[in-house]
Amino acid sequence: MSLQNEEMDVVLKIKRYSPEKGYWWQEYKLKVDRFTQFTEALRRIKSEQDPTLAYRASCHMAVCGSCGMKINGEPRLACKTLVIDMAKKYGSNVITIEPMDYFKPVKDLIVDLDEFYQRMYKVKPRLYPHKEVLEGNVEQRLKPEDQRELWKFAQCIWCGLCVSACPSVKMDPEFLGPAAHAKGYRFLADPRDTITEERMKILIDSAWRCTYCYMCYNVCPRDIEPVTAIKKTRAYTRLAKEKTSVAQTGEKHIEAIFNSLVESGKLEEAKVYLSTYGLLGSIKDFIYLFQSGKVKYALVKEKPVENISEVRKILSGDNK
Ligand code: SF4
Ligand code: SF4
Ligand code: FES
Repeated sequence: MSLQNEEMDVVLKIKRYSPEKGYWWQEYKLKVDRFTQFTEALRRIKSEQDPTLAYRASCHMAVCGSCGMKINGEPRLACKTLVIDMAKKYGSNVITIEPMDYFKPVKDLIVDLDEFYQRMYKVKPRLYPHKEVLEGNVEQRLKPEDQRELWKFAQCIWCGLCVSACPSVKMDPEFLGPAAHAKGYRFLADPRDTITEERMKILIDSAWRCTYCYMCYNVCPRDIEPVTAIKKTRAYTRLAKEKTSVAQTGEKHIEAIFNSLVESGKLEEAKVYLSTYGLLGSIKDFIYLFQSGKVKYALVKEKPVENISEVRKILSGDNK
């Protein structure tokens, strides 16, 4: 049989939910072909086997952002994922489907996205152009190089997958989350926008709350790299007139890392930690290190790397 005609019997094990019954798993058997997306499989289950199954999907082409769910534990767009591909990837024709993590369940695979939209609205996700532009008196064109900078971050389809996968969102109520940062940076870096100061106030403190775990980078179905938007937003900190203590600590941390690399070519964690938080700020963690017998690791004195002058040249930008 050619690849095009490939078929497979699969079992979709779906984590269902209703406010009355709570969670339960239900299995559905069906035959899929090479081109069956998960949204198509769900549509067939709903129309041929079980009309009570609830899920969201609209465009079936990775544009509307409504079909985010966990497939074999991976946050994915159901319409952009082929059933056969997942069966092959995991070497099993039994595949689990669950609602996205973090968001409140509504019914089966449908979650409540209100909280996600509130995050997005907090970053004022639209352009605020000059008055003359609004009145139609002048035209303000975007230069190609500016367009290139913004393009990636403008492609967000508000699917929520990155937020569902982000550990910092779960831990820190002050963190806006990856999608809001991608959207926020898209307007922060737009030279036509007029509320840069306000945007910096909204975004900078939050940007320093990301832990750089890269989950958002891994799961985004549009390759938007929200973590890159966060890094770029952090670079605006030096322009901010007012800085929160979180942003100030973030700046100190970056400076401490830079100094450590200049000095030894290595990241000396204990030294970086002390320079960032100071002796008093570090005491609590040192007590923990002491109690857990790990203090000896913190006190390791790193030898500078052999070619330290090369490292310093790179760090000074003189690496031609
Ligand atoms: S890199 Fe930052 S924003 Fe992205 S998932 Fe990790 S903590 Fe969240
Ligand atoms: S950044 Fe990517 S994963 Fe996050 S909401 Fe936008 S499209 Fe979805
Ligand atoms: S159905 Fe629109 S993104 Fe999947």
